[in-house]
Amino acid sequence: MFGLLMIIAVMGCKESKKVESVKEETEQKSAKMVETSLNASDFEKEIDEKPVKLYWLKNGDFQMAMTNYGGRIVGLWFPDKNGKMTDVVIGRKSVEDYINGPESYFGATIGRVGNRIANGKFKIEGESYSIKPNDNSNALHGGKNGFQDKVWEAKQPNDYTLVLTYTSPDGEEGFPGELDAKVTYMLLNDHTLKIAYEATTDKTTVVNLTNHAYFNLNGEGSGTILDHKLQIFAKEFTPVDKGLIPTGELRNVEGTPFDFTSPTLIGERIDADNEQLKFGKGYDHNYVLGSQRENGMNHAAMVMGNTSGITMQVYTEEPGIQFYSGNFMASSNTLKSGAKDDNRSAFCLETQHFPDAPNHPDFPSIELKPDETYQTVTEYVFSNK
Ligand code: BGC
Repeated sequence: MFGLLMIIAVMGCKESKKVESVKEETEQKSAKMVETSLNASDFEKEIDEKPVKLYWLKNGDFQMAMTNYGGRIVGLWFPDKNGKMTDVVIGRKSVEDYINGPESYFGATIGRVGNRIANGKFKIEGESYSIKPNDNSNALHGGKNGFQDKVWEAKQPNDYTLVLTYTSPDGEEGFPGELDAKVTYMLLNDHTLKIAYEATTDKTTVVNLTNHAYFNLNGEGSGTILDHKLQIFAKEFTPVDKGLIPTGELRNVEGTPFDFTSPTLIGERIDADNEQLKFGKGYDHNYVLGSQRENGMNHAAMVMGNTSGITMQVYTEEPGIQFYSGNFMASSNTLKSGAKDDNRSAFCLETQHFPDAPNHPDFPSIELKPDETYQTVTEYVFSNK
């Protein structure tokens, strides 16, 4: 008995020492928090009688600015190989900038259905639905006024977590059912940005939530991402037609510019003479995940910034990931650093179900029924060695 008590006492002591040292380490790290030009007041606004604000998430030397306008990541800071805090997610400096665009997806939480639906049309349980096209003849990212334009309710239970909720009314943008969405953004101890998505509905609907962070691992405004090395753990992708709608085929990447099974420069084959690359003006394609599983998740991708030495790993419970190489970026937005959003100066890795899923019975389904809960997690893990 006495022995057992001793063991417990020693364990307790060790545990509290561990807690103390973690606390000290966090305090030391917070001492060198990054200074940014962001002003909280530039994010203060009332939209639809709901308050918009800037929120900070912190975990030591890992820090993120978010706004509840569109559930957006405004910036994400992490030390490069020399210890310099580097802003790896591009963003804008005020809520007005986001509202006035022209690009409306920077860092946003995307829904109700991320990616494209052909002609905005689909059927659920035999009933036809129509979303107004906002990308040529197709619906993109949940229609014209998708979740990127909504004011989310925000709660910050601690320094490293932001919980966003939004109720999308029945019929919003043409989608059936009132959808309660909850997205939790967390900065975990091991430099992991964890995003946990949840949703429930009162009528059968379709859901495919994602985040549209535009990354540049050398830092916002540091030039193109063409010299970043990328690895995508996928043997197949879903080829598209010229409207970027999947044809339904799952095509092997082997021997094509879409093969990123080993680390390859993004720019190496981006302008190759290839019909798929022409359709996307570069990479704008969904990859089929599942070939690399770790801890119950798909290891989706690895990207390395060539000058910063910052590496990002992407893990997800989703079956697909859209690799978009910033081909439509056109220097038409001024970023928070003062730089422009030049062509291919950032890339996106949007974890998701496959594009146009409602019109492809062979693709994993995105239907959500009233007695179900949509739940999915994606993690971005950063390192700098
Ligand atoms: C799409 C691109 C689109 C971009 C807009 C991506 O998810 O695949 O085609 O231009 O979003 O930000």
